[in-house]
Amino acid sequence: MPRVRVPATTANLGPGFDTLGLALDLYNEVEVELASRAHIEIEGEGRDLLPLDESNMAYRAAVELFRRVEGKSPRFYIRLLNRIPIARGLGSSAAALVGALVGANALLDDPRPLEDLIMLAAELEGHPDNTTPAFIGGLVAVAVIENKVCWRRLPLPQGLHLIAVIPHFRLSTQEARSILPLQVPFKDAVFNLNRLALMLAASWEGDLKLMGQMMEDRLHQPYRLQLIPGAEEAIAAAKEAGALGVALSGSGPTLVALCHVPLPQVGEAMARAFIRQGITASIKILRPSPEGAAILE
Ligand code: HSE
Repeated sequence: MPRVRVPATTANLGPGFDTLGLALDLYNEVEVELASRAHIEIEGEGRDLLPLDESNMAYRAAVELFRRVEGKSPRFYIRLLNRIPIARGLGSSAAALVGALVGANALLDDPRPLEDLIMLAAELEGHPDNTTPAFIGGLVAVAVIENKVCWRRLPLPQGLHLIAVIPHFRLSTQEARSILPLQVPFKDAVFNLNRLALMLAASWEGDLKLMGQMMEDRLHQPYRLQLIPGAEEAIAAAKEAGALGVALSGSGPTLVALCHVPLPQVGEAMARAFIRQGITASIKILRPSPEGAAILE
């Protein structure tokens, strides 16, 4: 039975809304096997939350791949070992779906090339800035152009650490997208263009400090931070404690601070800002995952 390890991802990284995604060294495992009836087991995050029937996202992805390759929809046994917290902006649904696609493709003897799986994941999950780095690993820039996912992997500066502070409440991507405006001020669009261009230059030059400095955004964070009490104070506190930059992870509520060394005080300062709003939070010190989804054993 294929067992697939898939990384968490942090999308946007500040200015790269729907464009940048970074794989992190926090991994889920997904096992997929053909079975006589639908059977899903979940261990870890989301155990009491995620559906255990055919509506499960990982299950649906496996069925859809088989339907496209073989024209039939068999039943599966799927086992999810979840370490990525659910609905916190760390790509948990992308990881489930990507793991299931890679596992199901392996069961079929890998008929579909990576590009097809990347496309299918984008179609089923809707956020290629999470699903693509979950396949590829590292830092990835993506765009959907003429119904195709166009992506490139970008270099990463040495010594990059990410301190993730994960508030103990869930925020669905759907809700966090519904709050976004239909139009943004021209100067805010230019603000993001400036920072995204310089962030890409920082990635190529290995300039961690510049990369952190460019982790700013005016397209989505100002709206979404209103849904996350304490987030603005947490961002300020992280910078004060030595973070090079801080951004909302994906659609939140997790915040990620970029640091040149693992600085526990950055996480603690952010967590204290949440506590002042009555919100507890977990701290994780993470590194980029150079590896994307991979079959274990
Ligand atoms: N780029 C997407 C968003 C990521 O910010 O809505 C969703 O995880």
